[in-house]
Amino acid sequence: MSFYVTTPIYYVNAAPHLGHAYTTIAADVMARHHRQRGEEVFFLTGTDEHGEPVADAAHALGVEPQELADRNAERFRALAPQLHASNDFFIRTTDAQHEATVQRVLELVRENGYVYMGTYEGWYCPRCADFKAEAEIDAGNLCPIHHVQLTREQEDNYFFKLSAFQQRLEALYDEREDFVAPRTRYNEALSFIRSGLRDVPLTRHKLTWGVQVPWDPEHVFYVWFDALLNYYSALSYAGESDRTQTFWPADYHLIGKDILRFHAVYWPALLMAAELELPRHVFVHGFLLMDGEKMSKSLGNVLDPFAVIERYGADALRFYLLRDVPFGQDGSVSTASFELRYESELANELGNLASRTIAMVHRYRDGAVPAAELDPQLDADFAGLREEVEWLIDRAELTGALEVIWQRVRRLNRYVEESAPWQLAKDPGRADELDGVLCTLVGGLRVLGVLLTPYLPVSAERLLAALGAEGRSLDGARWQAAPAGAQPIGQLESLFPKSR
Ligand code: MSP
Repeated sequence: MSFYVTTPIYYVNAAPHLGHAYTTIAADVMARHHRQRGEEVFFLTGTDEHGEPVADAAHALGVEPQELADRNAERFRALAPQLHASNDFFIRTTDAQHEATVQRVLELVRENGYVYMGTYEGWYCPRCADFKAEAEIDAGNLCPIHHVQLTREQEDNYFFKLSAFQQRLEALYDEREDFVAPRTRYNEALSFIRSGLRDVPLTRHKLTWGVQVPWDPEHVFYVWFDALLNYYSALSYAGESDRTQTFWPADYHLIGKDILRFHAVYWPALLMAAELELPRHVFVHGFLLMDGEKMSKSLGNVLDPFAVIERYGADALRFYLLRDVPFGQDGSVSTASFELRYESELANELGNLASRTIAMVHRYRDGAVPAAELDPQLDADFAGLREEVEWLIDRAELTGALEVIWQRVRRLNRYVEESAPWQLAKDPGRADELDGVLCTLVGGLRVLGVLLTPYLPVSAERLLAALGAEGRSLDGARWQAAPAGAQPIGQLESLFPKSR
């Protein structure tokens, strides 16, 4: 089995912020979970470096686009490991191999009859060397960036025959109801298709920052076609050998809701035009909001991921984003709600459960997990949990999966209170009972450690190591007592220290 998951590639016209970290974290949870299943996984992220926004930002700074791209791509590349993201490759659309694939695939699209020369008419800014969308234009036909008068101009461009895919796209949505999720996004994409597809410009004439059109070098490809193809091109050169056979088509493209149309309409049409297989799923997440507004650099309302990581660690950030904002919906984030989750859930619920359990095994049993039966009281909670988590993650329900795991963190906390091992320890006649409780707590925590590994890779690893757990694969999430003669319990430094 193989599994291929992608994030959008990030524009290098700005520095990384929490919105970018969000998709990377989510994709990483899926990648790590599938690796735990023993599957061969490919997890791709990277940067989108061509197009007018990047060219504009570079010119505003007085540097060449390539220079800005080089500078910011490194910041995105560095973000991934800081988030503990385990991406297998980092693609840049200025990679020569990517550019060659874009040219090859789009040449094929043309040979297949889906490209023609047409005229694009719109409002043009001479300073941007670019057309502006109607929605961007200020009153008085001024450029929103340069505040100069726009002129009505025409440009001869190559067009992509999107309209030719009207029926096939409708059929796709008909046959594959899980092509786009959540359902609201599926409906949104389908109604856009049903409203009637129009052909779209495939190339730009007055822009030079892009991949050259092989049959007409005066043109570059419109940035979205170049960008979307990253998902396909990367497989051919990410490793020593071409990985396309193993990983294509992608299992999951994770994207934000603002880029739905490109992924849910243009992308499948482009793949059909190039006779390539379509991805299995596009999952659309919402926006992280601050004070009710989309977080963005230009609004200056960003929760700085680097600052959070420095203070609390990347695991805490990963947990917070997937726990507090239901994956697939918009949600507000704030420092206050972050701190609340950190204290009440990570430190108090999980951290304390782990440290109490480990301390009791040391105090009452010299650090050896007693050979005993698991308490059948917890069977209903733990048997089948692994399958439940798999089912949810198969649907990219990352908040849902974390919730079912967390219910069991709480269940174990209640179990400690109900069974009061400290009372049992006072009565030598109840030693067997105490053995059973300690064995159950360790068994339960091992299951949780394994299932939490994708979310909290560093802390879960520390927990599992301290518990003497051997494997990290999903087999370790089976509800079973530690084998007799299991490794002794180690020491555990506080997982989520409170005084930071
Ligand atoms: N370069 C394109 C994507 C090309 S994919 C073939 C792009 N880049 S972006 O850097 O502007 O955005 C990348 C992703 O970050 C998008 O999925 C976008 O939705 C996401 N986010 C940016 N700000 C966000 C929030 N405030 N909240 C959540 N995600 C948001 O679009």
